[in-house]
Amino acid sequence: MRVMGSISWVGILLLSLALLSSCLAVEVSYDANALIINGERRIIFSGAVHYPRSTVEMWPDIMQKAKDGGLDAIETYIFWDRHEPVRREYNFTGNLDFVKFFKLMQEAGLYGILRIGPYVCAEWNYGGFPLWLHNMPGIDLRTDNPVYKNEMQIFTTKIVNMAKEANLFASQGGPIILAQIENEYGDIMWGYGAAGESYLKWCAQMALAQNIGVPWIMCQQNNAPAPMINTCNGYYCDWFKPNSPTSPKMFTENWIGWFQKWGERVPHRSAEDSALSVARFIQTGGVLNNYYMYHGGTNFGRTAGGPYITTSYSYDAPIDEYGNLNQPKWGHLKQLHAAIKLGEKILTNGTRTDTDFGNSVTLTTYTDATGARFCFISNMDEGKDANIDLKNDGHYFVPAWSVTILDGCNKEVFNTARVNSQTSVMVKRSDDASAKLTWAWIVEKKKDTLNGRGSVKAHSLLEQKELTMDASDYLWYMTSVDINDTSVWSNATLQVNTEGHTLHAFVNKRYAGYQHSQWGNNFTYEKEVSLKNGTNIITLLSATVGLPNYGIGFHKIKTGIAGGPVKLIGSNNVEIDLSANQWSYKVGLNGERKRIYDLHPHAGVSWRTNGSYPVGKPLTWYKAEFKAPSGSNPVVVDLQGLGKGHAWVNGHSIGRYWPSWLIGTNGCSDWCDYRGRYKKEKCNTGCGEPSQRWYHVPRSFLNNDKNTLILFEEVGGNPQNVSFQTVTAGTICANVYEGQTLELACQGGQVISQIQFASFGNPQGQCGSFKKGNWEATNSQSVVEANCLGKKSCGFTVNKEAFGVTMSPMQVNNGVATLAVQAAC
Ligand code: GAL
Repeated sequence: MRVMGSISWVGILLLSLALLSSCLAVEVSYDANALIINGERRIIFSGAVHYPRSTVEMWPDIMQKAKDGGLDAIETYIFWDRHEPVRREYNFTGNLDFVKFFKLMQEAGLYGILRIGPYVCAEWNYGGFPLWLHNMPGIDLRTDNPVYKNEMQIFTTKIVNMAKEANLFASQGGPIILAQIENEYGDIMWGYGAAGESYLKWCAQMALAQNIGVPWIMCQQNNAPAPMINTCNGYYCDWFKPNSPTSPKMFTENWIGWFQKWGERVPHRSAEDSALSVARFIQTGGVLNNYYMYHGGTNFGRTAGGPYITTSYSYDAPIDEYGNLNQPKWGHLKQLHAAIKLGEKILTNGTRTDTDFGNSVTLTTYTDATGARFCFISNMDEGKDANIDLKNDGHYFVPAWSVTILDGCNKEVFNTARVNSQTSVMVKRSDDASAKLTWAWIVEKKKDTLNGRGSVKAHSLLEQKELTMDASDYLWYMTSVDINDTSVWSNATLQVNTEGHTLHAFVNKRYAGYQHSQWGNNFTYEKEVSLKNGTNIITLLSATVGLPNYGIGFHKIKTGIAGGPVKLIGSNNVEIDLSANQWSYKVGLNGERKRIYDLHPHAGVSWRTNGSYPVGKPLTWYKAEFKAPSGSNPVVVDLQGLGKGHAWVNGHSIGRYWPSWLIGTNGCSDWCDYRGRYKKEKCNTGCGEPSQRWYHVPRSFLNNDKNTLILFEEVGGNPQNVSFQTVTAGTICANVYEGQTLELACQGGQVISQIQFASFGNPQGQCGSFKKGNWEATNSQSVVEANCLGKKSCGFTVNKEAFGVTMSPMQVNNGVATLAVQAAC
């Protein structure tokens, strides 16, 4: 009886929990015009934030900034390689705790979009695949292969089950409203023939069988089988139509900028063009826009893929790598979201008509059953502004390459080319710029490898990642060759054909030099070497800089010296091919094995401090202690002067570095013309500068008092100028149209200390080079000072009353009046 009694109590408890969660359950459905969430017809703005590219401590702030920026949802991939680095050994701790990440979204009042993949692309090492997959017998990735499909299903099910256990799906009362399987398979499916088609169908069935209670999507997949919804990725998706008339039009990746590769210029996409892309998408019936990325973050550790993706993954996203607002982009998009939301009901319930005004100008009118209207006018001409007469609804000036949003079809509430929000010029500051760090060092121990001693032997040149399992960037290849004629071999050339990415050579323990691939692919290393009579030892150190993540068969692209050939070329072009020699191999560095970079290295690590530290010496470890910069602004370490390597702070990897690789001098511009279709070569900066000079050190990696920076310098550099700095808004500007609100804010508790420029009238130029026009309110400076000086933030409506002028400058100039302000924080 007692047992029965307790069972019934448990039963009641379970039943009430089930009832509770079904009460909290949020139903997600859709039609062609809306996502329908709990019966409400919605347009959703979402942004990609990848949890391993920031820290747990940064997540709440990023989410709050996303919420404040007018986002409804946050989207992330799931990173298989990080969760299952060793088969069936899982890690969901720290910044891999995706469950916590989604819970925080919900706490911040945001929905979530779960893109499981588990192939993710994402400029992530090996596209997110763990290396052990590659080495499984009989496997082929992303195709109709039973070994792969089995592993993919096990991992997908694991993630779904974890999400279900934490009630993360909207159907359970959680934040997740959509989930994705695979990623852009449609772009490469042709390469797999019939097996690709059947794999795709299997993916859909496998996903649907997970029974998650919210819709599944497949991006870039025109033939996605129903009920999978196909979605669009790109810079513009206004042209896109889902493959079913009842599916909503969704933009899963609106590339808000682009990623950077070592040696390449830094891409930027303007706020104006980003806003145009979103506005055009909604104008043409879009119901969900997801920014890729909203916060790009940092490729910590060896997570950067590519190859050759930089450690910074800032992506020119609305929230910068460090968590600061990237202004004016964040603010301009926030205003865009608010403007579109004014018409949400009409857009999702109404019918649409387009009127062509010629010259690429289109008026789109949405009208609902009550007759309420909401309009867009797009001017897609790249050069010609347009004056559009809508008769009773007014007269509108629509600049070239812009979209105007009209609430009620007769009140302009936004134009994508008119940026009213603040521009922030970010600066780096240091507590004591002259402070120098004191360095200790260890030269990487190479006794074994210089003597040709490895742990694996083969009569061929092996592929790198198959041997390293990508546990290290480094693989030593060693062999020996007997010489008996120095007249031929004392001035020889060592020639190594390698699949990449960097190569160092030693002959008879002497350094012969270093070369790297230009694009992260195969190259030929060639250096002069001198051989002696008798046995000569050849030691080669090959390093990878991230494994490929994209394309048909990317996972089969070879790395390292794989097959060579490796040759010695003597005088009169006499050659010795060493490729079929006996080679011995050693994975990784001795310093890595001893965990020199760790706060608790293995025994036998002794740092040298006497004498002066080595400069320009390849394969050297450096260590310095430092105090954390004061305040709360994000911290970076300036690694200018160093070559290429890897950096750690208090045992946390802050990623690979390569400041010695300077960006080419051509192709950058100070001024960026937002008009015309964006491509990554447009609006670039960084020419002549290090590919990446500053590296993010998240505040949570730091202690108040003592901190340790450790560098592994691979190619040789000088750490004398290494310094820790904070990143903050230095100069802030705004150029606000009459009738709009001026909003200025410093960050990190700083106040507006000076108004460097203020003019209400027809000022010219841009932040940093504003000039007065031919008319202005003479009290411009004092009005702005009275409102803003000494404050952390300020704001007021820009109109003639604010400046006490009777005639609007707009009337005086027969144009649009603006208030331009430049202030210092
Ligand atoms: C897409 C891909 C993303 C990312 C992006 C470029 O094709 O789906 O994961 O790689 O390109 O940043």
